[in-house]
Amino acid sequence: MSRWLIVGYGRAGEVHAAALSRVPSAVVAGVVDSVPEAREKASAAGYAVHSDLEAAIERTRPDALSVALPHDLHEWTVDVAAAHGLAVLVEKPLARDAEEAERMVSTARAAGVELGCLMNYRAYAQLRWVRDLIAGGTLRVRSVTVEVNLPAPVQVPGWQTDRARAGGGLLRTVGVHYLDLLVWWLGVPERLVGQVTGPNDEVATALIALPGDVSAAVSVAAVAARGAGVRMTLFADQGNVVIDGSRVVSSPEGMIPPAPEADGVDLLYGSGHLEYFRAADRAVGLREPFPVRGDEGLDAVRLVDLWYASARTGGWVRL
Ligand SMILES: NC(=O)c1ccc[n+]([C@@H]2O[C@H](COP(=O)([O-])OP(=O)(O)OC[C@H]3O[C@@H](n4cnc5c(N)ncnc54)[C@H](O)[C@@H]3O)[C@@H](O)[C@H]2O)c1
Repeated sequence: MSRWLIVGYGRAGEVHAAALSRVPSAVVAGVVDSVPEAREKASAAGYAVHSDLEAAIERTRPDALSVALPHDLHEWTVDVAAAHGLAVLVEKPLARDAEEAERMVSTARAAGVELGCLMNYRAYAQLRWVRDLIAGGTLRVRSVTVEVNLPAPVQVPGWQTDRARAGGGLLRTVGVHYLDLLVWWLGVPERLVGQVTGPNDEVATALIALPGDVSAAVSVAAVAARGAGVRMTLFADQGNVVIDGSRVVSSPEGMIPPAPEADGVDLLYGSGHLEYFRAADRAVGLREPFPVRGDEGLDAVRLVDLWYASARTGGWVRL
């Protein structure tokens, strides 16, 4: 049985607690939030609540922290976890920039604690199936398009509109998921050219050169006229794989995706979370690395940095 302390009980923290509560081998030892309303909500859901992280660790003796805080507080939790020898799972993006993420990875490594990043999309069965087809050489991808349209105007917590706290706008917060998928499917990009406009990155587009001469055109936008939805197409020698949201809606003949996950779809951010937490809890119990490690979270943060850097200079940037 692994004991988890949830740190932050906002939109994401509530999902962490609900998902971990459904994992039979996991115990939600408590919830930490500095805001009384959030603690009241957690308490009403049946969790033991705390206002201070250090005191909560003393009282609950957890094995792991599950962190769902504003981005400017992610590094602090890794420092605390390292000081107490605890595994620490941090929400995406791992950090506000690569420098901060690198420090977090080094701190965890020096203390000998596991650092994970909650890239829940990697836990969707159908997206894993795509990855396995590519890794096994069954699907030879030539190019990819990723079109992420967010409902506009986007409703985000106040801290997310403060670029100093969030480390950027929608590209940092949402785009990072899709950059992580590209790296996971196709490898770490070689170079990128991108644009970003709007106070909260309302329109961000990039062309990304991936290993093996594969190119990806990625757009992350919050423009009312475009509606909302996510569509990814992988153009391959064998035919195209089309993904709508997190579902494969079309694939080459003979390549049949697994049935979509049914368990956990009622969670605010979908079933990938439940699957991710199952695997994360197994990892904590076995003292093994998390399903997505801190250094993989760093790769995705680095790509967001590059995209912003290209938008500033207007030219290609190399990794
Ligand atoms: N993986 C996903 O699908 C997903 C979805 C949404 C958000 N997120 C990520 O989750 C993280 C949190 O985002 P959110 O939308 O839940 O934000 P939020 O504002 O809804 O929640 C943050 C919570 O942290 C609490 N908090 C702030 N400072 C604190 C402190 N010092 N100690 C304890 N508690 C403190 C706040 O009171 C609040 O309840 C971010 O990294 C975000 O990018 C991930």
